Amino acid sequence: MAVVTQAQVLDALKKVIDPDLQRDIVDLGFVKDLHIENGQVSFKVELTTPACPAKEQLRRQALDAVMEVENVQGVDIEMTSKVRASPRRAAENFIPLVKNVIAIASGKGGVGKSTTAVNLALALAQTGARTGILDADIYGPSLPKMLNVENKPQAEEGKRIPPAEAFGLKVMSMGFFMDEDTPVVWRGPMVGMAVEQLLRDVDWGELDYLVVDLPPGTGDAQLTLTQKVPITGVVIVSTPQDVALADVKRGINMFRKVDAPILGIIENMSYFLCPSCGHRAEIFSHGGARKQAAAYGLEFLGDIPLDGAIRADADAGIPIMIAHPDSPQTQKYREIAARIAAIIATMGFERPTFPEIVVE
Ligand SMILES: Nc1ncnc2c1ncn2[C@@H]1O[C@H](COP(=O)(O)OP(=O)(O)O)[C@@H](O)[C@H]1O
Ligand SMILES: [Mg+2]
Repeated sequence: MAVVTQAQVLDALKKVIDPDLQRDIVDLGFVKDLHIENGQVSFKVELTTPACPAKEQLRRQALDAVMEVENVQGVDIEMTSKVRASPRRAAENFIPLVKNVIAIASGKGGVGKSTTAVNLALALAQTGARTGILDADIYGPSLPKMLNVENKPQAEEGKRIPPAEAFGLKVMSMGFFMDEDTPVVWRGPMVGMAVEQLLRDVDWGELDYLVVDLPPGTGDAQLTLTQKVPITGVVIVSTPQDVALADVKRGINMFRKVDAPILGIIENMSYFLCPSCGHRAEIFSHGGARKQAAAYGLEFLGDIPLDGAIRADADAGIPIMIAHPDSPQTQKYREIAARIAAIIATMGFERPTFPEIVVE
């Protein structure tokens, strides 16, 4: 029987182009563990994020390409992923085992930043990525309640604090260490110190993504974060009404000044989806954020409806990603999370990489 060679298979796989990176999967080093026996071909395709939106398309294309090779009897492809660490550097790095830090920012409070951060983190975790969420909103920590964390982490003398766990996420918040009724009057320097502690003194372990829910505006928490960890990217959450306000512009300018890449803008509470008839009502001149994002030179990452279930589930301590995983709203969060993961994966390829080809 005629043999199939590795060269033939790799040649065929060079026709499969990653849509985000615009390079073929062999050149990118995604093809691993190639075995050929009696016309049966098996290999792994190792993507740079389990949240890759093109995963199924790439599998299909790889399958079709190899099936066309002469004498190939069958193809077995395993789609895997390995998130690469951000190539970015900061003055210091308090969390070297965390591969990517995604900061969620907003111009002002009440725009749904925390709700969006939680649901995006859950969407990433649900793809299989090791994900944590840090509540850096020292003034108004909301994650303990939104994630209904009952077993608060315990600090032990001389040891790093293990984060809490909720719905597959590692969670840390200053709220764990504050009494519910304690009025928080943090002065600027103390905010920075608190954020430092939540990074350095917490045993985050190895994570693919750490989502950081920042306080609104441009203050000490933002500054500390940009100095103590390499931020892979910043995501700005805005409502249709506030996207053009000075607060948002100031925020963008601040991140640009410290060289933290802004991944794009999410428009939250964008339109109203009627729960009984499914009618979509554009109550606040929806679409403004898309235009505004373009004016700022930023990508528009997507819109999330103003939706009673998103609020009710958040208030009940079971985010909509968990409470109603099959709803159209959660699909929105999944799409945006996949887009964010795809942008991050592309960032790691700004410098040339050398293909890794399996030699047998
Ligand atoms: N898309 C949405 N639809 C409906 N309510 C929302 C949505 N996003 C957030 N909310 C609600 O708006 C309020 C403020 O959200 P929150 O995430 O705490 O804002 P921030 O962190 O920006 O202050 C909360 O009651 C939350 O449940
Ligand atoms: Mg908040």
